[in-house]
Amino acid sequence: MTEDTVQKKYLEKIKLYQKYNRLYYNDDKPIVTDQTYDILKKEIIDLENKYNFLQSEQSPTKSVGFKPSKNFQKIKHKVPMLSLGNAFNEEDLKTFEKKILSFLSLKEITEIDYSAEPKIDGISASLIYINGKFTKGLSRGDGTEGEDITRNLKTINDIPQEIIEKGFPSEIDIRGEVFIENSDFKKISAKFANPRNAASGSLRQKDPNITSRIPLKFIAYTFGYAKEMSINNQTNFLKGLKIWGFKTNQYNKKISGIKNLIQNHKDLEEKRKEIAFDIDGVVYKVNDFSLQKRLGFAANAPRWAIAHKFSANSSISEIINIEIQIGRTGALTPVAKIKPVNIGGVIVSNATLHNEDEIIRKDIRIGDTVTVERAGDVIPHVVSVDLKKRNKNSKKFIFPLNCPSCGSKTVKDYNEITKRQDAVRRCVSKGYECEKIAIEKIKHFVSKEAFNIDGFGKKIVETFWHLKLIRSPQDIFNLDYDKIKKLEGWGQLSVSNLKFSIKQKINISLDRFIFALGIRHIGQENAKLIARHLKSPSNFFKLSNNKNIDNLYNINGIGNTQIQSITKFFLNKTNLNVLSELEKNLKIQNMVLIDNKGLLNNNTFMLTGKLNGVSRAEAKSLIEQNSGKIINNVNKKLNYLIVGEKPTTKKINTARELNIKIIDQKEWFKMLNKTS
Ligand code: IVH
Repeated sequence: MTEDTVQKKYLEKIKLYQKYNRLYYNDDKPIVTDQTYDILKKEIIDLENKYNFLQSEQSPTKSVGFKPSKNFQKIKHKVPMLSLGNAFNEEDLKTFEKKILSFLSLKEITEIDYSAEPKIDGISASLIYINGKFTKGLSRGDGTEGEDITRNLKTINDIPQEIIEKGFPSEIDIRGEVFIENSDFKKISAKFANPRNAASGSLRQKDPNITSRIPLKFIAYTFGYAKEMSINNQTNFLKGLKIWGFKTNQYNKKISGIKNLIQNHKDLEEKRKEIAFDIDGVVYKVNDFSLQKRLGFAANAPRWAIAHKFSANSSISEIINIEIQIGRTGALTPVAKIKPVNIGGVIVSNATLHNEDEIIRKDIRIGDTVTVERAGDVIPHVVSVDLKKRNKNSKKFIFPLNCPSCGSKTVKDYNEITKRQDAVRRCVSKGYECEKIAIEKIKHFVSKEAFNIDGFGKKIVETFWHLKLIRSPQDIFNLDYDKIKKLEGWGQLSVSNLKFSIKQKINISLDRFIFALGIRHIGQENAKLIARHLKSPSNFFKLSNNKNIDNLYNINGIGNTQIQSITKFFLNKTNLNVLSELEKNLKIQNMVLIDNKGLLNNNTFMLTGKLNGVSRAEAKSLIEQNSGKIINNVNKKLNYLIVGEKPTTKKINTARELNIKIIDQKEWFKMLNKTS
C-alpha cells in the first residue's frame, strides 16, 4: 500500500469513528454495537502504530471519552475543599483516635461518636444556596479555587434547584459527590477507564446538553459554611439534608469504638458488590460539631475526619524491567515495569519497589513473578515474589551507586531522629545540574499546589525540556512562543491560552512561592508557616544571608531538619540565581494574615506547665485561630507567658526580669471570651 492509500483508509476510519461518537453522545442514537465500535477503535490504533506518519486530533489515542473543557471560570472557595487522611487498618484508626483524644486533652477511655459514611468514589462538588436558591456550583479544583460548573450541575436531577423548607440556612455551601451508577456506566464503559472518570468527564463538558445525557447522581454529605444554622452534629445535619430534599447515603451510621468501626467497615466491604455505585472506603467524622471546631485542620485535611480505605486489590504479574526514577530531591526510587494487568478496573504497568533496602529485603529480580497490590488512589506496589516461579538463571538486582541521570555519586543520609541510615539513596548533585532532578523540580514548580499553571502539566515540562525551551523555573516566564507555535499539536489559540495562564500566575502568594521552590522538608504546611512568619518576599530573600536563617527557630513547627535544609538551599549558587531571576519576573505578594482583628490581636504567647483540659496542640491552634502567635523562647518579643501546673521556674523568672506579662489559664481564657 502506498502512503496515500494508507492515509485515505485511516481518514475514512476516523470519519466513521467521529460519526459513531456523534450519534452516541449528541443524538443519543447509537447505530452500532459496543463491539463494532471497539473494533474500529482498535483498527485506528493499529494503523497508527504501524505507520507513524498517521495522526489526527480525533484519534481515540488523542481523546479519551469526550474531552473536559478547560474554559470554566475559576472561583475561589470561601472555605477550602480539603482532602482526607487515609487509614488502612486498625492500627491507623487507633492512632487517629489517640491523636484526637490527646488534642482534646480527654482520657483514653472516652468514647467518641463518629458519623461513618461510605466513601463514594466520584467527584466532589460545592453547591451554594442563597435564600433557598441554587445559585452557584463549583468543582473542587485545587481545593482553594474551583471551576464554575453551575450549568452542568443544574442538569443533575438529585440537586434541588430551590429549597423552601423552614430551617434551611439563608446561605449555605452544601458539599457532596457527583457520581455515575455502575449500571449506567456499563453503557459508556467503552469510552472511560472507570465510573469516576466517566463522572468527571461528563461533569466538565463545555456544553451542558452533553452532561444532561449522562445520568449523573449526587449525594450530599457535608457543608463548607452555613449562615444561621443551629444543627450541632453531623448525624442531625445528614437528617437535615434529607428533609431539605438532598439524597444522602442509606448506609450512613453513627458509631463509637474502634472495634465497631472495624465491624462496620467489614460489613460494607462485603456489601460493596450490591451497592449501585463505587465506594472505596468509609469516612469517619467526629460527630459533634463543637469538637470538630476545636480539632480544626492540619495541613490539607481536618483533624476530625479520616478515610478508612478498603483493602487493596491485587493481581499477579511479571517484572519486565526495573527502572530507577529520580525525584526532585534526588531520591532514587526503583520502579518495576510489569506486564500490564487489570487491578480493580485499572490497567497497571508500573509498580513501586520503594527503595534499595526493600529490593534487598524481598530479593526482587527482573523476570520474577510477583503479586502487585493497589488500594484506591495509592500507587501500586510489589508485595511479594513467587520464588517457585523464579528462573534458575536470574541474577540479583544491583542497585546503581551512581545517579543514572547525571552520573554523580549517590548516598544514604544519616537520620538524626532515627539514628539510622535512611533507606533512600540520593543523588548528591546540587539540583539543576542533574537533568532528571531539574525536570522533576520544574514539574513540582508548575504543579497544582505550587504555581498551578493551567495547561502546563508534566508532559509539557518534559517536551519543553527536551526542546531546550526550559532549563530552570524562570524560563517559564520567558518562553519562546514563536518556536512553540510551530510545534506539532500547537496553534495560535493554544499558545495564547498558555501565555494567558502563565501571565495569570505572575502574581503569586508567598507561601505558594516558597513551596514551589521544592526545598527538601518544606512542604505546603511548612511553607505556610514560614511565609506567615516572614510576611514579605524581601524577608524571604534576605535569608540568603545565612545569618537571618536562625530567626526561623522562632516558628513553632519548624525545627533543625527544616532549617538545615533551608541553609543548604541558600548556600547553593544555582538556587540563588534561580531566586534572583524569579524575583525579576514575579510579583510575589506579602502574606495577608488570616485575621488581624482576632481576639489575641497579634500578641505572642508562650506556654509553661500543663493546662487544664487543653492539650498543647489545642492551645497552639486556639492562639493561632485568634491571630496570636506562639514562640518558643522567653525573649523581648514575648508578650504573655501562660503558666499552667508544674511550670518551669526558670522561664517564669526570665519573664519577670524582662517585664513580660505572666498569666494563668483563667486569664488567658478571658482574653478568648472563653469560660471553660
Ligand atoms: S467529607 C474535609 N464525606 O472523599 C472533609 N468526603 O478524600 C471532606 N468523599 O474530596 C469531605 N464520600 O470527594 C466526605 N461521605 C463523604 C465522602 C467524601 C466521598 C470524597 C470527597 C473528598 C474525598 C476525600
